[in-house]
Amino acid sequence: MTDTLAHPPVTATGRERLQRRMSRGATFLGCDYAVMGGAMSWVSERNLVAALSNAGAFGVIACGAMSPELLDREIAATQALTGKPFGVNLITMHPQLFDLIAVCGRHRVGHVVLAGGLPPKGSLEAIKATGAKVVCFAPALSLAKKLIRSGVDALVIEGMEAGGHIGPVSTSVLAQEMLPVIAEQVPVFVAGGIGRGEAIAGYLDMGAAGVQLGTKFVCATESIAHPHFKQAFIRASARDAVASVQLDPRLPVIPVRALKNAGAELFTAKQREVAGKLDEEAVAMAEAQLEIEHYWAGALRRAVIDGDIEHGSVMAGQSVGMVTREEPAAAIIAELMNEAAHALDRRAA
Ligand SMILES: Cc1cc2nc3c(=O)[nH]c(=O)nc-3n(C[C@H](O)[C@H](O)[C@H](O)COP(=O)(O)O)c2cc1C
Repeated sequence: MTDTLAHPPVTATGRERLQRRMSRGATFLGCDYAVMGGAMSWVSERNLVAALSNAGAFGVIACGAMSPELLDREIAATQALTGKPFGVNLITMHPQLFDLIAVCGRHRVGHVVLAGGLPPKGSLEAIKATGAKVVCFAPALSLAKKLIRSGVDALVIEGMEAGGHIGPVSTSVLAQEMLPVIAEQVPVFVAGGIGRGEAIAGYLDMGAAGVQLGTKFVCATESIAHPHFKQAFIRASARDAVASVQLDPRLPVIPVRALKNAGAELFTAKQREVAGKLDEEAVAMAEAQLEIEHYWAGALRRAVIDGDIEHGSVMAGQSVGMVTREEPAAAIIAELMNEAAHALDRRAA
C-alpha cells in the first residue's frame, strides 16, 4: 500500500487493522485487497480486469451477452495480461449459461459470479464441479438464506445507489439488515455507492468480508470506455445518476441507474413497443423481458464503445460525483486503501 500525496500518512496500525479486516475476503478471492471490480458490460474486459488484479484487487470479466467462443478468447487474453486471480460474471438468463460455465472450467477460472436473478437449476453444481467458487447476488435476507442453503460460497449485497441494474433498497439498509445475520456464514461483499475508503472501512467494521465497486473504476486509464463516456463521468454529480422509469405495470422491468440523457426517451419508446407486443400476444413475458435486456446491452455499447453519450446508456452509480479524473487502476486502489487505513487509524483516538 503506498501513501498518496493527497492524504496524510497512515500509520502501521491503520494498515494492520485494514489487512486484518480484509483477510477473510482477500483469502477467499486469492488477492491482496478484498475489493472486487464489479463486472460492467463492455467496460470490464481484459484490460481493466487485468489492471485491477495486477493492482492487488480482484477483476471480474463481464460476460454479458458474449457467446462461449468470445468468452473463451476474453479469458485467454486476460490470462495473458495477468498471472493474478480474476473472476467471470455470467448472467443467469443467458441461453448458453451451461456452455459458458464449461468455458470457465476449461480455463480453470477460480470464481464465477452469477448475476441477473436466482441461479437456474443445476448451475451451482455445474460451477462447483469445475472447481470454481460461486458468488451470487442476494437482493433480500430471505433469498440470501436460501442461496446459502443451496451452497453458494459468497454473496454480494448491492444497494440501489449502484450503477446498472438495481434493486429497490439502499446499501446502508441492506448492510444493516443482512450482515449481522449472514456475514458469519459466508463472506459477504457490499456494493453500491462506495466512492471512498472510509465507507469501505465502515462496511468492514459491520462484518463485510469486502466490497465491490464499479462506477469508481470506469475512468481507470486502462478502461477502454470511450473518452466521451469517461468525460461524462468526470463531469457528473450524484444527482445526475437516476433510475429508469417503468412505463407499464404489466411489463416489470428492472430499473437501471444511468446518467440523465436523451436515451431515457428511447427507453420509454422501447417499453411502449414491447408492451404493445405483449398486448397483441406476439411475445411471451420472458421473451419481452429478454428484449428489454438486449435493448440495455445495445444502448450501453453505444455509449461505452461508440461514445454516443446522448442516445446510449451511460450506466453510472451515485458515487459518480466522486470520480474526478482519469488515473491508473493501481492509483485508484491505493487511494481507496489509504483512505480506509486512515479511517481505521483514527478509530483509536
Ligand atoms: C457501466 C456499468 C455496467 C454494469 N454492468 C453490469 C453487468 O453487466 N453485470 C453485473 O452483474 N453488474 C453490472 N454492473 C454493476 C457493477 O458490477 C457493480 O456491482 C456496481 O457498479 C457497484 O456499484 P457502484 O457503481 O455504486 O460502485 C454495471 C455497472 C456499471 C456502472
